[in-house]
Amino acid sequence: MCGIIGYIGNKATKNILLEGLKNLEYRGYDSSGVAILGDNIQIVKEVGKIENLKNSIAKQELQGNLGIGHTRWATHGMPTENNSHPHFSNDKKFAIVHNGIIENYLELKEKLQKLGYKFISDTDTEVIVHLYHYYYNGDMIDTLAKVIKDLEGSYAVCVLSEEHKDKFVVAKKDSPLIIGLGEDENFVASDMPAILKYTKNYYLLEDGEMALINKDKVTIYDDNKKIISKEVLYFDFDTDLAEKNGYEHFMLKEIFEQPSCIKKCVSKYIADNDVNFESFSKIEEIIKNTKNIHIVACGSAYHAGMIGKYAIENLARVRVNIDIASEFRYKNPILEKDDVCIIISQSGETADSLSALRLAKENGVKVISIVNVFGSSIARESDFVFYTLAGPEIAVATTKGYSTQVFLLYLFALKLAFIRGAISKDQFNAYISNIKQVENDINESLKLNDKIKDIANKYCHLENAFIVGRGIDYYLSLESSLKLKEISYIHSEAYASGELKHGSIALIDKDSLVIGIITDESLSAKTISNLKEVKARGAKVLVFAKEGIEGLEDVVDDAIFVPSKEEFFMGITGIIPMQLFSYYVAKERGCDIDMPKNLAKSVTVE
Ligand code: F6R
Repeated sequence: MCGIIGYIGNKATKNILLEGLKNLEYRGYDSSGVAILGDNIQIVKEVGKIENLKNSIAKQELQGNLGIGHTRWATHGMPTENNSHPHFSNDKKFAIVHNGIIENYLELKEKLQKLGYKFISDTDTEVIVHLYHYYYNGDMIDTLAKVIKDLEGSYAVCVLSEEHKDKFVVAKKDSPLIIGLGEDENFVASDMPAILKYTKNYYLLEDGEMALINKDKVTIYDDNKKIISKEVLYFDFDTDLAEKNGYEHFMLKEIFEQPSCIKKCVSKYIADNDVNFESFSKIEEIIKNTKNIHIVACGSAYHAGMIGKYAIENLARVRVNIDIASEFRYKNPILEKDDVCIIISQSGETADSLSALRLAKENGVKVISIVNVFGSSIARESDFVFYTLAGPEIAVATTKGYSTQVFLLYLFALKLAFIRGAISKDQFNAYISNIKQVENDINESLKLNDKIKDIANKYCHLENAFIVGRGIDYYLSLESSLKLKEISYIHSEAYASGELKHGSIALIDKDSLVIGIITDESLSAKTISNLKEVKARGAKVLVFAKEGIEGLEDVVDDAIFVPSKEEFFMGITGIIPMQLFSYYVAKERGCDIDMPKNLAKSVTVE
């Protein structure tokens, strides 16, 4: 987590750093700060959002042609000014920002304290700046190389030195860092949206690499300090995607972008009525014979994976194990030759998912990833990657990232089913023409916006919700419940509707809201009967059902009917109403929708 930015050039450094941090704020927003090198290094930090830093900086003269900045998601130490980055060396000659976790910091701290270094923060990061001071020999890269040899853990780190007014240095391991290339100016950042206004050309720093950044030159070194050359990459995204474009929140904008994201996936991955996964031919043989597929992911990506499991098992009849990434890596998973592992991650940087990927590869298992961010660590380390093409997702709560993951999982299931002979060519063709309708179905669901807003206003005062469903609707309930709780702070739990009576129904009373998700017609009668059980105990019952589902009149307080031409693909469409419901509940409750408390978009710590 945390976002870092660096700039060297002739523009107003403080504005570039502030703009960059604003665009990185989704990575953490407990505190922020900048260090700007003029005659000497000046640091300004503030607790809370970037707005606070902006107000504070406005009152100060901060001149200089190079600087670094940081927005923090607290891990070691509370969100206080002392714990905020940048961190100074004791003599104020060096300043650093860091994203990652230094696992051996206590040991290093003890060593440095014995050498007389004074620590003012509780962070793991502060050891880096004192180490830098300790090893400093006039050569910024040589010093950095010595420092990183001592560090265990993950880092993207930028260092300023008062003695060098024409350069700064960076290094990376297991935390993302890109170097943006401008004319007579250069940038570094945790990811591209931070600097998109200025350049789309960039280098992607790999683990173990370091770079010396001058305004007219970038020199990249490997971990032996040997200069290496690198390909300049181009960030092929519309800058509009990183703007709100008239929407009040990024989340709402991203909800409404879903039809166009699906459209992009359709045109990229479906051609001539066939699933056209580039390089799929390379995995066809493996996939064809695999006995087990392992799906591993976190949070919403895990929920997408559950729908993927459902689709693969139903269509292709291949056994799928699904695990939360943080559990998978420590459970000594049974990984067999010819197994395949699918890692799902919007950011492509989630630490637990990345470790799961590495574990699978160590065990000789081929890894396919479903990732949104191009060139991210998970994408680079996978054997095969399918991009979800959702564009930058800025709101912390995922929407379009999730639905495009589910879409690709369905396509994967269809292709797999066909090549294994589990479905006929005619069935395959029918599914393909139906999945192309999903864009329309989402558009139709989005038309329910105003209705859902009214319903959200009616229920937004309740403090507890159960969200229930069966089969695929249970998986949709899991994702719905996460959406609701993370942005509205209403306590909500998802249950397979038949499971509620095995204990949790004890919590149901007149102040409970039970939301039923019913898109699977074959199971609707069962879920309706479970809803009757909670209704009999006084709960308010709200249902999101597929159009045509009958028998709800006596049970529900309110119902929203979702139009759909294709029931099987409701795993994609079925989430739209609950995304909108969660959004409007959170809005009515005055929550900070795009940046919910305690969260960060990219979870790069264990
Ligand atoms: C919830 C949400 C998270 C992510 C999870 C995994 O709205 O966004 O639960 O799904 O942190 O992140 P990625 O997909 O980047 O690996």
